[in-house]
Amino acid sequence: MGIHDEDLQRVKIETDLAGVVSQYVALRKVGQRWSGLCPFHTEKTPSFSVNAEEGFFYCFGCQKTGDAITFVREVEHLDFVGAVEWLANRLGIAIRYTDASDGTARKERQELTELLEKAADFYHQTLRSGSSAGKVRSYLRGRGFDSETVEQFRIGYAPDAWDALASHLDVPASKLEAAGLGRAGQRGGPIDFFRDRVMFPVSDTNGAVVGFGGRMLPEGQQPKYKNTPQTRLYDKSKVLYGLHMAKKHVVEADEIVVCEGYTDVVGCFRAGIPRAVATCGTALTDDHLKLMTRFAKRIVIAFDADGAGKAAADRFYEWEDRHNAEVFVAAIPEGADPGELAEENPAALMNAVASAEPFLSYRISRVLDKSDLDRVEGRARAAANAGAIIAEHPNEVVRDQYLVEVAQKVRVDIEQMRRLVVKPVPAQRQPVSPIDSASDDSVSGEGYEQQEIPQAEMNLLRALVHHSETVTPLTLPSMFSNQLAVDAYHLVTTDGWRDQIDNTSTAVTTLVGRALVEEVDADPIELVSRALDAVIHRWNMELRYDVTEIEQLREHQPMVQWLAQRQEEMHSDDTRTAAVEAVVGWLRSQQTVNATDETTD
Ligand code: UTP
Ligand code: MN
Repeated sequence: MGIHDEDLQRVKIETDLAGVVSQYVALRKVGQRWSGLCPFHTEKTPSFSVNAEEGFFYCFGCQKTGDAITFVREVEHLDFVGAVEWLANRLGIAIRYTDASDGTARKERQELTELLEKAADFYHQTLRSGSSAGKVRSYLRGRGFDSETVEQFRIGYAPDAWDALASHLDVPASKLEAAGLGRAGQRGGPIDFFRDRVMFPVSDTNGAVVGFGGRMLPEGQQPKYKNTPQTRLYDKSKVLYGLHMAKKHVVEADEIVVCEGYTDVVGCFRAGIPRAVATCGTALTDDHLKLMTRFAKRIVIAFDADGAGKAAADRFYEWEDRHNAEVFVAAIPEGADPGELAEENPAALMNAVASAEPFLSYRISRVLDKSDLDRVEGRARAAANAGAIIAEHPNEVVRDQYLVEVAQKVRVDIEQMRRLVVKPVPAQRQPVSPIDSASDDSVSGEGYEQQEIPQAEMNLLRALVHHSETVTPLTLPSMFSNQLAVDAYHLVTTDGWRDQIDNTSTAVTTLVGRALVEEVDADPIELVSRALDAVIHRWNMELRYDVTEIEQLREHQPMVQWLAQRQEEMHSDDTRTAAVEAVVGWLRSQQTVNATDETTD
């Protein structure tokens, strides 16, 4: 769903970033920019900087950068459209959507949300005071669910009737069906989807109910759980139960605990681990990972004892790599799940989460635990099994460390152990171009070996960003000595680049973000001249390295002198501009020379 470009631009133009940021942190004016404590990381001295005119922010501490939309996405945990809506709402701008049906679709979603909210209320009230719910109340009490828990999770009861909810809501069957709450019955009237079940409302990140998980009662109808089918609002591969309540704790702890079931989440909250969520009757998906890593990088898997071992290992490693996440596993004792452990021994659950091991380490421990390390055969089998597990890890350094550790434990020679670890085929990595990387939420700094940008080049980038019209014609990629800076150059000389850098955290955007909030306190042409100064210096040095024959040196002498004169002129205000233009002309010709050199080679 897109927002009408005109409205998007209007929101962007009318938004005052300093005002938006001020809703979250106190800002103080320093020079031309605003400065304050960074809302994205903990700090005591302000390193968060806002360029109000340009509408960009940059943190010198954590390097986060972006515009107002990025800022709102981050602090409010919204998607792009959500963030624009948030800003528009604040400005009182009515937004139009690119497709007329988008507006209608929104309205329909709203209607469904209202239905689901009413349903959640209905189920909840029925549980609290319904005459038919006595047995359910005692069942829940027996499981340790007190009324506070029932309130907190809005747990409910779907009565044992064909159309209790349908007649309460009194809407056409088609609406019930769209919401996943019911359908048309054989006799024409609408009937309920959930009957005689304990109801767990499932919400989106903002707390709006999108679906339900319905648990059968001890003597009830199988299957144990019935879940809302896929609807416009509910997609089990994208939703995480409990996240709307857990999110602030997750962000605080920079850790999220993932369970398998609704009652596990309830148990974790009760045991003092309010950063727990659960998938809803499905295995973890890539979308789940993406969602979780928006809030925390450390992911603790708290599955039933066998659950984590059975989880697809290659996907975890891939996720760790792709989402810059760390996957840990909490060792839940055999035969229990976190929900049960929370009831029986909350301290043990707390401890299991606190002492969670990295995924690979956890798997190795389980192999070793199950082996008979007192016997030669047992150690040999353990070595082979652990070797196979280690081999799955894509990182050689990680493999090597575990290999050494296991070799010691199973008393096998390191070289022998190494032979048991068969190296997997390494995953292919695509190089990121600066523009592509703007839409890629991958690791920042990827592919850049040296990150230090020379001062003169940093200043040139600033000048490019703030005085683009003057500086762009005088700048060439060869004026940057470092790939990161070259990529930044390409980004900021692309039409409409400001719209491209909204939602990224790559090294390039970080660099550009920094350039955006740093004022240019010198004449832009002078900044260009300083960069050229460095280029000439480098050229001279290279000449000295490359050309050893005195004859050849003499050949270059006129050029060396010519450049020295231009350098001289660049130092004086009157002659600077002409000299800069001359040197840029020379540099451009150098480039074509080099290019032909390469092709004739
Ligand atoms: P469990 O069988 O472990 O149930 O399934 P539970 O969550 O521990 O529930 P209690 O404590 O026995 O009451 C874990 C999760 O798998 C999904 C549900 O999301 C459940 O919470 N599931 C399970 C289903 O979707 N359908 C089923 O029939 C069973
Ligand atoms: Mn369970």
